[in-house]
Amino acid sequence: MVGLSFTVTAGSLNSTVSDFLFDERVRVQRSELEKLGQSAAPLLVDANTEGLKQLIRAHEGEFSGRILVLDSRGKVHLDTAGERTGTLFRSEEVDAIMQRGQSAYFGVHDGETGELVNTHSLIFSLRLNGAWSSYCSARLVSGNDVIGVLMLISPVTDMMTGLRDLRRQMLIIFLLAALAAAAVGFIFSSILARPLSGMIRAIQKMARGDFSARAPEKGSGEIRRLAETFNSMSEKIETLDVTRNQFVANASHELKTPLASMKVLLESLIYQPDMDKGLRTEFLQDINREIDRLSAIVSDLLTLVRMDAGSVKLTREKLTLQDLIEENRHRLDPMARKRRQELVIDIKDPCEMNADKGKMNQVIYNLMENAIKYTQEGGRIVVTLDRTTRNAVLSVKDNGPGIPQDAIPHIFDRFYRVDKARSRETGGTGLGLSIVRQMVLLHGGTIRAESQEGQGSDFIVELPVNGQS
Ligand SMILES: Nc1ncnc2c1ncn2[C@@H]1O[C@H](COP(=O)(O)OP(=O)(O)O)[C@@H](O)[C@H]1O
Ligand SMILES: [Mg+2]
Repeated sequence: MVGLSFTVTAGSLNSTVSDFLFDERVRVQRSELEKLGQSAAPLLVDANTEGLKQLIRAHEGEFSGRILVLDSRGKVHLDTAGERTGTLFRSEEVDAIMQRGQSAYFGVHDGETGELVNTHSLIFSLRLNGAWSSYCSARLVSGNDVIGVLMLISPVTDMMTGLRDLRRQMLIIFLLAALAAAAVGFIFSSILARPLSGMIRAIQKMARGDFSARAPEKGSGEIRRLAETFNSMSEKIETLDVTRNQFVANASHELKTPLASMKVLLESLIYQPDMDKGLRTEFLQDINREIDRLSAIVSDLLTLVRMDAGSVKLTREKLTLQDLIEENRHRLDPMARKRRQELVIDIKDPCEMNADKGKMNQVIYNLMENAIKYTQEGGRIVVTLDRTTRNAVLSVKDNGPGIPQDAIPHIFDRFYRVDKARSRETGGTGLGLSIVRQMVLLHGGTIRAESQEGQGSDFIVELPVNGQS
């Protein structure tokens, strides 16, 4: 673009300059020639060659060149250089006057070939060393007739080479400017594109499945922000990918464990056909328990996966959390009694709200069951229901073994269990709390665990009472 605009400017400047030079020359020569023509015409009519010669000689000094006098047929009557006298002289400048009726004409000719030169294509048309002449013609008039042509031939080599050199210089400057513009453009675009090419590499890596790819956060403004946004996106995807892989690995492991123990039990039954009847029943009961575990894990997994896909919709209805707590007390009372635990329900507010009954039931059941399950025999579990201005607050507290501080942040993770053996022995899947948390979140609520190791745990759920979804 820079080169192009330079060429346009230079080109028009150049032709303005050369047009001006030519016009100036033509104007001066023409008027002087015409003046001389007025005196020469009558002498030509009278065929007074001597008089003509004297006249021209007298004025020759005013012109820097050679003067010719031609009659209407183009025959040279006088040539101050003497060479052409008596010959026919054909040129564009003569034709312009004799055939096209112009009063004067101007042209530049190659000194060697005599050919007319196109002054606008000087760059390539002119030889390095040459000679050029300008032909300036003016008509000779007598009455109303054009009776001949007065011609001035003067050397213009200096002017022509000057113009040619000027054009050549401009061409060189144009080439240099275009080259410089291209180089600067290339450097700038590569500086701009460098962070982009880093980003393209990172995107290609990600497309191949390498989620650890990060774009260099270079450059400035929008490009830098693009890289930062891309990086935070790829970080999230990487985390998701790791979590998903872990989930699949954990799930497979959890499913394999009951299958493996079932296989051992079944093989014992097959290869010991005369097994003691009591032992046999015990084995079958064990198998039955493993099947229960398997189906518990599968149904928990299904619940989680469905919630992940966002396909779980809440079917809210008017209910009181108090009713749900009472209901679960009835279901879990036998278990608590068996463990000689005290199950206390403390309702400070019934907490009427719009909620999904099935899901709220599962939340309360899971928390109460955990408290009973993980608290030693003879322990005490207190379920408290209260409300603040906006929230229903449910607390399930026990005086069991508690949860180690470093385990609390992981307690809601899938498959996380503080004591794997203990959990498995009690039929746990390690999915209960993560399901609880998902369901609480779906209701727009929060859940947290507070615990002192050795003193007990407290799970606190807060739910907006006028929740909508
Ligand atoms: N009330 C509690 N007291 C002590 N530990 C608990 C309590 N509730 C949950 N936990 C710990 O949190 C882990 C995860 O609980 P959960 O997700 O319900 O899985 P599960 O009960 O199937 O093992 C349990 O394995 C247990 O270690
Ligand atoms: Mg549980």
